[in-house]
Amino acid sequence: MPTVENMWSFPKILLILVLMKSCTAAPATSGVPAVIDETDPELIGGYVEGDMIMNEGKNGWIDETLRWPNRIVYYYINSDFDQEHRNLILRGIKTLQANSCLLFKEATRDQPYYINVTSDGVGCSSEMGFRKGIQRLNLDKSQPGCFRPGTIMHEFLHALGFLHQQSTWNRDEYVHINVENIIEDTIPNFGKYSKDKVDNFGEEYDYGSIMHYKSDAFSKNGKPTIVPLIAGYEKLIGNRVALTRVETDPELTAGYTEGDMILNDDRNGMINETYRWPNHIVYYFINSYIDQEHRNHILRGIRILEANSCLTFKEATSDQPYYVNVTSEPGGCYSYVGYRNRVQQLNLQNYALDTGCFRLGTIVHEFLHALGFYHQQSTWNRDEYVRIDEENIQDGMEHNFNKYDKETVDNFDEEYDFGSVMHYNSKAFSKNDKMTIVPLVEGVEEFMGQRLRMSDADINKLNTMYRCPRKV
Ligand SMILES: *[C@@H]1O[C@H](CO)[C@@H](O)[C@H](O)[C@H]1NC(C)=O
Ligand SMILES: *[C@@H]1O[C@H](CO)[C@@H](O)[C@H](O)[C@H]1NC(C)=O
Ligand SMILES: *[C@@H]1O[C@H](CO)[C@@H](O)[C@H](O)[C@H]1NC(C)=O
Repeated sequence: MPTVENMWSFPKILLILVLMKSCTAAPATSGVPAVIDETDPELIGGYVEGDMIMNEGKNGWIDETLRWPNRIVYYYINSDFDQEHRNLILRGIKTLQANSCLLFKEATRDQPYYINVTSDGVGCSSEMGFRKGIQRLNLDKSQPGCFRPGTIMHEFLHALGFLHQQSTWNRDEYVHINVENIIEDTIPNFGKYSKDKVDNFGEEYDYGSIMHYKSDAFSKNGKPTIVPLIAGYEKLIGNRVALTRVETDPELTAGYTEGDMILNDDRNGMINETYRWPNHIVYYFINSYIDQEHRNHILRGIRILEANSCLTFKEATSDQPYYVNVTSEPGGCYSYVGYRNRVQQLNLQNYALDTGCFRLGTIVHEFLHALGFYHQQSTWNRDEYVRIDEENIQDGMEHNFNKYDKETVDNFDEEYDFGSVMHYNSKAFSKNDKMTIVPLVEGVEEFMGQRLRMSDADINKLNTMYRCPRKV
């Protein structure tokens, strides 16, 4: 089911963002973005390059002082936005959040630095990078073009430290700038930055980036100002609909090392609706001894689930009768399966961020248990896809390889998913470093046990289980 969010999954620019913020990178799917063509309010602000407000000196991507500290981006959306515009802004923010390790937080009164999202300026514009103070990002309400999802993200990506794609140091190898077609006083918008200022983070020049200008940007005569040197890219450049995606994932490795312990006090599957959270609301409580850094990482995991479904996660108040009690005790990472109509524990043993129980994928994995999912390899038809090698399993751990019958678990019309964030790796609970789960299909072993992202099928199943409305 192509939801808006998963249509935007793992764009190249966000892979760059991931690299820039030293997150764990996500694997990719393929797809070609569509093109939108209309007059562009990004270009009318009159700032450097139209929508970018540059402060003292030139600021490149490389300068780390222009990155948001602790991967947390604070924002304030002015009250002159109505609910509809506000929701569109939040949706853009959620998409960026779901595709990176950044956490966006609404600024409180005493927050010294944040993005002030305003509507009283001209067009759509943003200050470049982290400015250590209150920095403006303007989305003009009277300009529908500013509220294209891609444009909202485009402006936030400026605030996160990205210049335009065609400003990069090696752009002349990919595009030709037709100076004779450019409105004279906008020629400075086509400047480029040197290699010591901007970095492509190992990515190819990206014609389909949402940070690329359209081919007729600032044209005085309707003729192209930016001509791709490779035929066929004219229509791609300047897209503000979908983010571009990477075709290969450089960091996709199975890294599952911890025993994932599920407390099955009784056997409950996904089909029985008693085990689904009522009203699409999941209450949670993060114990106060969990430090701010780890708390934020748990919240990042929660935001990924929110952005990819119709579920809302709410912090439990003291009178809330049922909620997920997030603890951080020794003993690994584990959760009850499904909604229990009482306080139910979800444990994430303390690890450094992005390791062990505090890998984002593992946090998501444990919450997916709490939402009603067993492991992928527990499903009724798994024997058509994998062989369980009993002789390699540690003694006493065989129960982890149980499967559930068709009446208990449902695959929600999805194929068996070797790349599910709910799949064990092939050597889970192995006593001799040999495979305990042998895939019957070639070439999937490296995906098994990945904890980098929810797969498309994971997202679809979650949305089907909770009957989320289709977004597209
Ligand atoms: C945001 O910027 C606008 C326009 O400059 C200003 O009027 C407003 O007070 C600012 N709000 C906050 C909360 O910073
Ligand atoms: C669902 O689970 C509840 C609680 O265990 C049980 O009482 C009920 O009979 C189950 N329903 C079905 C259809 O199995
Ligand atoms: C959460 O669970 C832990 C461990 O069972 C328990 O000590 C703690 O009191 C619980 N906290 C809340 C708020 O439910």
